[in-house]
Parts: sequence; C-alpha cells; structure tokens
Amino acid sequence: MRVAISTGGGDCPGLNGVIRAAVLRGILEYGWEMVGITDGLEGLISGQGLVPLTVDDVRDIHGQGGTILGTTNRGNPFRYRVRDGGQWVEQDISGHVIHNARSAGIDAVIFVGGDGTQEIAWRLAGLGLQVVGVPKTIDNDLLATDYTFGFDSAVETVVEALDKLRTTARSHDRTMLLEVMGRHAGWIALHSGIAGGADVVVLPEIPYDPEVIHRHLQARRESGIAYNIVVVAEGAFSRSGSASILQQAGTGTVARLGGAGDELARQLSALGDYELRVTVLGHLQRGGTPSSTDRVLATRFGAAAVGLVANGQFGRMVCLRGDTIESVPMADVAGRQKHIGLDSQLLQTARSVGICLGDERVD
Ligand code: F6P
Repeated sequence: MRVAISTGGGDCPGLNGVIRAAVLRGILEYGWEMVGITDGLEGLISGQGLVPLTVDDVRDIHGQGGTILGTTNRGNPFRYRVRDGGQWVEQDISGHVIHNARSAGIDAVIFVGGDGTQEIAWRLAGLGLQVVGVPKTIDNDLLATDYTFGFDSAVETVVEALDKLRTTARSHDRTMLLEVMGRHAGWIALHSGIAGGADVVVLPEIPYDPEVIHRHLQARRESGIAYNIVVVAEGAFSRSGSASILQQAGTGTVARLGGAGDELARQLSALGDYELRVTVLGHLQRGGTPSSTDRVLATRFGAAAVGLVANGQFGRMVCLRGDTIESVPMADVAGRQKHIGLDSQLLQTARSVGICLGDERVD
C-alpha cells in the first residue's frame, strides 16, 4: 500500500501529531509506504510535491505547531483559482487530481482538515479516490465529533490573554474587549469566556442587544466594579446588524471575518461613558505548540485513520464521541458546521455564573 496524507485549510496545533501517528502506525503495524502531499493538494496538482514520510521524518514533530506538509485554504480542485487573461477564474481540475493520484500509485489519501477539506475529500471519493478523513480546526465547528484537535490549544491561548487583560483592566478601570476566532460558531469564545471568567461573551449563535450589555456593565459599576472583560466571537453581531466582514469572498476564497470587537465597542460608546480597549488576538490562536490534550487527540485520530484504511472503510471520517474514537460517513459532515445549541448546558452554565450573553436572560 502507498498511503498519502494531506493537510488542508487553515493550520492548527496538532496537525503534526496526526501526521506522526498515521506514519508510525502505517509503517510499524502495516508496513505501508507513507507519503505526504505538500500544501493541501497543491503537491498532487503540480505533481511535484509528493514527499516520503519515514519514521525518521516524523521523529519529534508532535510538539511542533503548524504542519510539516504545508497547507492552503485556496486549493479546492473543484473551484481552482487560475489566471485567465489577467483575471482570476475558477476551474474544476478534480479529474487532473485523480489522474495524478493514480499515476503516483497512491492507494488511499488521509485528508486532515475542516468542513471544506472534508467536502473536497468526499467529492473526490465520488470520483473513485479512496479517502478517509480526520477532523481539524481550532473552531471546533465540525459536525459529528465532540471535539477537533487544535481547539484546546486555541482556548488555552485565549485564556492566557484574558488573564493578562484582567490585570491591566483592573488597574485602569477599563472595559477590555477581546475579539477571538471561531468563524460562525462561538465555541472558542464560550469556552474561553467561561475559563477566563469573562463578564460578557457575545456569540454568533445569539445576536446581542447592546442595551442589555450596557445595563449589565452599569449594574457592575453600581456594585463598585468598574472594570470589565468582554469576549467577542469574530462572527458575533447585534440584533440589528450582521457579521463584520474584513474582506469579501473572492474567486476561490472565502470571506474573512474581522471587526466584531470594534463594532461592539462603537455601540457601547454610544450608550455610556466607557474607557474601552479592543484587542484582536488573531492568528496567535492558531500558532504555537499544541496542548497535551490536543497531542493525545491528534495521535488517536491519526492512528484511527490508518485503521479505517486498513479495514477498507473509505469515505469515512474519524471522530470523538465521549471518550471513544469512532467514524462517520464523510457525507454527513461535508461542508456542514456545528453551532452551539440554544439549549446547550454550557450556555446555561455561563449564565448561572453571571456571564451576560447579550440577550435577556431566558432560563
Ligand atoms: O478556521 C480557522 C480560522 O482561524 C478561523 O477561526 C478564522 O476565521 C479563519 O481561519 C482565518 O483564516 P485566514 O488564516 O485565512 O485569515
């Protein structure tokens, strides 16, 4: 067997742990030849980016952030960006990918990525490629898995930032807003808000009312507390608004979110006399060394993906359910996202410890 690994979409801590586990199990248990595809599928598209992955190649990489294979979120072969007379246009080059995979003698591909990557993998499976999937994203917004690796590390980074913002917020009696990643799901904001003791958390799942937040902060001030910690998910928006877009989607690219923290600061300033400061944590959340929780999950996922290939269970993605690694059909997750349910116990917990979620308390 010649088994390839591809890491696609935005990078996140733990990718190298998946690669290492898959390579070690593939070689040590099954005696396969393992290869990496560089930069998502670019290495296969060009035919120049297939690299051998030996036991030596993956030695000691479990603690490194990023991915040794490189990645891209612009490499969808069904909507591939090419230059045509000075303009970017989209082309379907999926047939070319299948052809190159066959020519390279690849028997199966392990796709490590988020909802977009799983959709690409699933569509390539429909064209005859033998694929399995591993869910990855700091956003934790993939369906069918309780957690994705990368999420825990990102939350740790946010909580560290919140702990630092708290000391300066207290010293100056300021309201500190921290804008965090997560796309259109609030998992990072909610988990870090609870772990970091935030006073307000706004999420894409609950459009906020600035008046409600203002009243909450006024009540704190009246009780003698003049500093506030506010976590703003980048996809959050007010009841009368919409998500803040930094850069509109272009050919073969998705829209970039940004500015939700500034937007909430603007709305609060209009309502009261706040000394506000906005911090955008950005890609710090994606970088750096994976937490031990992510290293374990990445290792379990990588090893389990090899198990799917060995058993011929193609078209499936490994997932975590409770404390068990299972698998689901890729068709169930491709291109779909997992949001925080409005009846989530986590939301209730946040409310129960006094966190304002920007809406009138409903429970
Ligand atoms: O999906 C991961 C993520 O980091 C999101 O949280 C964020 O909105 C997006 O990727 C940023 O993408 P880029 O690295 O292309 O700016």
